[in-house]
Amino acid sequence: MTVQLTIPRPDDWHLHLRDGAMLRAVLPETARDFARAIIMPNLVPPVVTGDQASAYRDRILAALPDGTTFEPLMTLYLTEDTDPADVAAAHASGLVKAVKLYPAGATTNSASGVSDFNKVRPVLEKMAEIGLPLCTHGEVTDSDIDIFDREAVFIDQVLDPIRKATPGLRVVMEHITTKDAAAYVTSQDSDLGATITTHHLIINRNHMLVGGIRPHYYCLPVAKREEHRLALRAAATSGDKRFFLGTDSAPHTDPNKLNTCGCAGCFTAPNTMPLLAHVFDENDALEKLAGFASENGPAFYRLPVNTDTMTLAKQDTAVSFPDKIDTPDGPVTVFDPGFDVFWKVT
Ligand code: NCD
Ligand code: ZN
Repeated sequence: MTVQLTIPRPDDWHLHLRDGAMLRAVLPETARDFARAIIMPNLVPPVVTGDQASAYRDRILAALPDGTTFEPLMTLYLTEDTDPADVAAAHASGLVKAVKLYPAGATTNSASGVSDFNKVRPVLEKMAEIGLPLCTHGEVTDSDIDIFDREAVFIDQVLDPIRKATPGLRVVMEHITTKDAAAYVTSQDSDLGATITTHHLIINRNHMLVGGIRPHYYCLPVAKREEHRLALRAAATSGDKRFFLGTDSAPHTDPNKLNTCGCAGCFTAPNTMPLLAHVFDENDALEKLAGFASENGPAFYRLPVNTDTMTLAKQDTAVSFPDKIDTPDGPVTVFDPGFDVFWKVT
């Protein structure tokens, strides 16, 4: 018997689309399933000003396949020189839906990020005043902090102090990977939300490192111990409105992944919704998928839930996905969950 699930069309609250030929190759993979996405600004050079975000939005819309509708929700990359007035104007015009904080050096293309948090206080205060959310890449970058501890330390050393010093600032902890982050979110009020990726619900650090190193499972924040993956599954399937989907789908070509210094990022745009149906089914929580993928994100961002729908159907035989998509820059490998998937988007 075929099991079917119909949910409001989902949105992706954390997505890397890149630019140029890569943008044109990966955008259809997201636009096929998702109505909207929060677009990460870590281009080279980064999307810092309202004018840059407007131009990037135009390039995304121009790259959409004919007949596709998709709404890019733009973000600004926070630097120590960001002008609060420019941020406020970009928000007031409806262009920009969030500002992204990368601690300098934390991840791909984050060199222009923040080192001295005092320098961004005026921007954060303006954002609290106008209700514009701050999306955080929640990892400290101190070389003496172990990479597996960087998220938990960020909460104590950066996030909690910023939130205490900036009452009313609305924050999304992006791509949380630890039970510490999930517990911090549930201990706070509704001004704090968190995105969870598809891949962090599926892999722990053993999947990446046991029996050979698997570069396509390397992303930042890096996957943690199994107890953390289980805490993320519990959070995502709990129905708590503060947790919602942000795939962090982050395409890199195979030559850039399979390298002596390989790039961080999992490319999950093509198969995220079938994988999530598998995960929620496995946790006996299919009825919570609509909240996680389609309703909780709009509630946090104060946007309407999409009125059209997506239907997922469980097949009797395993579904196959492409291993890679081709781009003029080289192939990009699609995230392989390592198990058979029976769900597909109909
Ligand atoms: C992202 C990228 O490639 O832009 N990589 C990743 O591993 N997630 C950057 C990021 O979100 O950290
Ligand atoms: Zn990301």
